[in-house]
Amino acid sequence: MFKVPPRKLEPEVMLTLEEVRAYDGLVRKYLKILHYGFLETIINFSPEKGLFLDVGTGTGHLSVGLARFCPEVTVFAVDLSENMLKVARENAEKEGVCERIIFLKADAKRLPFRDHTFDCVFCHDMLHHLPDPLDLLLEIKRVAKEDGAILVRDLIRLSPLERKLHVNLFGLTYNELMKKEYEDSIKAALSKEEWLELARLADIPQARVTYQFVTHQSLERPAANRRRVYLELPVPSHLRPATNFYVSKPAQTALPSLKKKQKISPRIKTLIKAAVMAPSGDNLQPWRFHIKSEKEIDFLLDPRVDKSFFNFEQNASIFAVGAAVENASYLLDKENIRYEFVFDYAEEQGLIKLGTLKINWPADNFEFKTFLARTAIMKRHTNRKFYEKANLSEKEIERLSGLAADLPIEVRVLKGEKLALVAELAYYADLIRVERRDLHEFLHETIRWKEQEIFATLDGMPIAALEAGIAGEAFLRMTRPWPVMKAFLRLGVSKQLADYTRKLVLSSEGIIALSAEKYTPHRYFEAGRVAERLWLALTEIGLAVQPMAAAPLFMIRWRKGRFLDFSARHQFFMRKVERGFEKLGLNYPLMLLRFGKAPLPSARALRKEVAEFLVD
Ligand SMILES: Cc1cc2nc3c(=O)[nH]c(=O)nc-3n(C[C@H](O)[C@H](O)[C@H](O)COP(=O)(O)O)c2cc1C
Repeated sequence: MFKVPPRKLEPEVMLTLEEVRAYDGLVRKYLKILHYGFLETIINFSPEKGLFLDVGTGTGHLSVGLARFCPEVTVFAVDLSENMLKVARENAEKEGVCERIIFLKADAKRLPFRDHTFDCVFCHDMLHHLPDPLDLLLEIKRVAKEDGAILVRDLIRLSPLERKLHVNLFGLTYNELMKKEYEDSIKAALSKEEWLELARLADIPQARVTYQFVTHQSLERPAANRRRVYLELPVPSHLRPATNFYVSKPAQTALPSLKKKQKISPRIKTLIKAAVMAPSGDNLQPWRFHIKSEKEIDFLLDPRVDKSFFNFEQNASIFAVGAAVENASYLLDKENIRYEFVFDYAEEQGLIKLGTLKINWPADNFEFKTFLARTAIMKRHTNRKFYEKANLSEKEIERLSGLAADLPIEVRVLKGEKLALVAELAYYADLIRVERRDLHEFLHETIRWKEQEIFATLDGMPIAALEAGIAGEAFLRMTRPWPVMKAFLRLGVSKQLADYTRKLVLSSEGIIALSAEKYTPHRYFEAGRVAERLWLALTEIGLAVQPMAAAPLFMIRWRKGRFLDFSARHQFFMRKVERGFEKLGLNYPLMLLRFGKAPLPSARALRKEVAEFLVD
């Protein structure tokens, strides 16, 4: 009842002219508030003049309103239904604005416009009609100017209980037909998680997800040259309070400052974009790239970025560089481009270089044909939810274990009793993690509580991505000051927190354990490659993954003789961790990844812009 069911698309029907007229009557009667709210948003996110595009215009109310209130705007309004367009034209004529609206029959997924044509592209309550809305978003991104406004809004798919509640409450005045329309649209819409995922895949620079009231979600980007004086629409006063729920204010959008564009070719930019989609400890993004030429890129890390106890001798950051190299390789392999990564560990001007990617482009003007958004690189994520068993076949497990046979890392998939052993050692490592003041404070530095923070920093972890739930988030917030956490620790809270971690492990289908025969930077690097290769493969078959890094990362320190880095109590726990690994036959564990079946995460970690990673 509380679970959001899968999407149920509405059957595609082309309405007759009579039906469209009836539909238009319903729109006029019932959707004024939504339209006023969105229209005021569109107008204030956009410049005062220019070319606007209304995707899926229906009977044209938004375009007509826009043309009425913005005398210097010309609107292209597209729809697939000729009958809709006919009624839309009539509506424009009635308002005397038909000479500034060009109505066109067109498929929204293949818009008949050149790249970067429009000052503003908007799309209202249309995405839920499409089986794969990513096509549409990518098309909108293509035809919008690079610094133009983009506004896409649609309903949120809800659980059956919420859906009934919404239809009966917000559709109180609707007639039966409209109620049915409303309910069917909610069923076909995207859930909040799917919307976030879609926004991430579309990867529209500077765009952010917002919510309107409890019914709608949007993807919004204000134009760089948007109007400076706010235009409030003359909404009838009895509708104004409700309309306000549907107005987004561009001023609330904390835009990251636009970086000066460096001159790099689109293909190198794509490659680096792919690389930085890799995982990194607490999403700190330690990568740096030195583009030596079109054919040679040095992969480096900045050791000042991750100063946590986890990152002993930069092993976590080196691991992240390995993962970034793997992402680049994945993309190059997809297009059969020859390349080689030459590992060459060196310290250079305060940075650590791991090696050079040498690319043999098939042609001087070669461009990637692969859409990054469609690859596992963009879909991969850390999922901290509880998992369900996926019941992978032995053959599939064998395939996964063999994926990295060319690299000097041992891959083992642990299930059953061995999974229980991992759960136990993860428990002890987690006791240490939650009881250390430095790790507690470090975690809090990387949590992003507010949307503005997420978009301003573009690093760290959105609180929702931690999947702590309402109570967990309240606990995290309350225990942020160390003295408060310490008081809770005295009450024995670390056992409960570590027990949660144990349960997360036990809920999984299995654990992938990566290990080597020694600890060296090269092995950390290769472990990063292997982890990412497996993670991408698991993403491709729809499985969720979470690194359980505390135990192996502590072990690196421990094996290197740094016993005194741990208190006497924690040394006792470390012996348990060590014994656990020994029982599993893993002398030099490098990483543990749990995997299984799970819903999409509640939020995703963002990345900084490519330019931020470039060094001379
Ligand atoms: C070396 C390393 C250690 C990590 N350890 C953990 C961990 O112990 N628990 C966890 O939930 N995520 C862990 N992560 C995942 C990162 O937090 C995650 O990759 C980052 O926040 C970016 O999010 P994304 O993977 O969803 O893109 C680790 C990642 C790396 C590279």
